[in-house]
Amino acid sequence: MFSNSFLRLVSQQIPGIRLLSTVSAEAPASNRYARPLNKMCGWQIQSYGSLDEVEHSDGLKMPVLTSPHQLLVKVTATSVNPIDVAMIKGYGASVLNTIRCKNGIEFPLTLGRDFCGEIVQKGLAVSSRDLDVGDEVWGVVPVHQQGCHAEYVVVDRYCLSRKPENLNRVDASAVLYAGLTAWSGLYLTGLFGNLLGAISPVGGGRGKKVLVLGASGGVGSLAVQMLLAEGAEVYATCSTDATEMIQNLGVTYVFDYNDPTHVQNLSRAGRFDIILDCAGKGTEYATAVPWRFEQYITFNSPVLKNIDENGFATGLYQNALSIVRNNVASVSKQNGLVKWGYFVPAPQGIAFLQNLVEKGKLLPIIEKTYTFDQISDAYQRVDAKHLRGKIVINYN
Ligand SMILES: NC(=O)c1ccc[n+]([C@@H]2O[C@H](COP(=O)([O-])OP(=O)(O)OC[C@H]3O[C@@H](n4cnc5c(N)ncnc54)[C@H](OP(=O)(O)O)[C@@H]3O)[C@@H](O)[C@H]2O)c1
Repeated sequence: MFSNSFLRLVSQQIPGIRLLSTVSAEAPASNRYARPLNKMCGWQIQSYGSLDEVEHSDGLKMPVLTSPHQLLVKVTATSVNPIDVAMIKGYGASVLNTIRCKNGIEFPLTLGRDFCGEIVQKGLAVSSRDLDVGDEVWGVVPVHQQGCHAEYVVVDRYCLSRKPENLNRVDASAVLYAGLTAWSGLYLTGLFGNLLGAISPVGGGRGKKVLVLGASGGVGSLAVQMLLAEGAEVYATCSTDATEMIQNLGVTYVFDYNDPTHVQNLSRAGRFDIILDCAGKGTEYATAVPWRFEQYITFNSPVLKNIDENGFATGLYQNALSIVRNNVASVSKQNGLVKWGYFVPAPQGIAFLQNLVEKGKLLPIIEKTYTFDQISDAYQRVDAKHLRGKIVINYN
């Protein structure tokens, strides 16, 4: 679709880009839409609101490299995460837009945080021995950048690596956003809170007792596999229909949260090294349940929401108050720290996940695959919740 001469032309017309870009790939063969050569198709929002805001266009501006450390990737598959739906509704707008507007990209906004694809152009600082045009890669897009629910995406070198050979592109597109969230919660947030008894970022969870709330979702289903691979003692909660699926992942202690006795039954398991909340329960839940723990780590952080709703100063104050209040309540019940976990686009995390995938110890659960033209249906599915693993968009 983009010839070498076209990409060279783009490089010459955009100030600075000639210094940054290198030889491009030969044009990808598909030519689904007739449109000007510097345009691509994709899905974007022009303002926040309902899911109806998401619009398809075949006239989106082709992204260009703005640093020698970046690569242009032709996306072949991508996943839809709850954050995509939340961002359509304005989640994180205050903080993320402050960063985005510095790059001049508040709207139109492209969603999409993880992908599989093929490198079509690379910056001069990316050595061909490291990654080259034509390589098949998997990667993530930081939340303040234009996403990958489009034909092409530009990302920094640290956000991607070669796709594991034993994963097809659909599976590869479904691992990194949820997987890096689980990895950072367990191995970064967990580590820093408990240096003496920690799980280290390169592994070492053997014998640790971890309870994963919401094991049936994208993050939870990867978290339990990571923990099992480490030799941790894994406990998991999920709804009735998902218990068999989680048992099939190898989790022995699966608790149906619809069963009123599950709270009591989990109390008998003793003290957990980590309770990892992948079910959106939040910080308050840490003190609402009778379970004992060294660390309670939730991915349902109120940080961006509080700032969205109350502005920077009040929002930050509320965040500080919330974490202090919950930790005081937790410690007063002889429990450990309550913390917020976040997606972190770290190359160490990508390497960690790659290693598990290549050893056959980690495989995403895919609930359903949609085509590129069906992205709005995929958003509707994620918005309806009760996901079982991941929702993926396969471009061909
Ligand atoms: N902070 C960050 O950087 C970050 C990054 C990624 C995700 N997150 C958050 O982390 C959470 C997990 O993300 P995800 O992508 O895995 O979401 P997801 O795919 O929607 O998974 C959530 C799972 O939890 C289950 N669930 C709901 N209520 C539950 C309960 N009371 N007990 C046990 N399971 C329950 C859901 O199924 P049922 O409703 O059918 O039970 C679903 O399978 C979400 O809240 C998401 O917003 C945060």
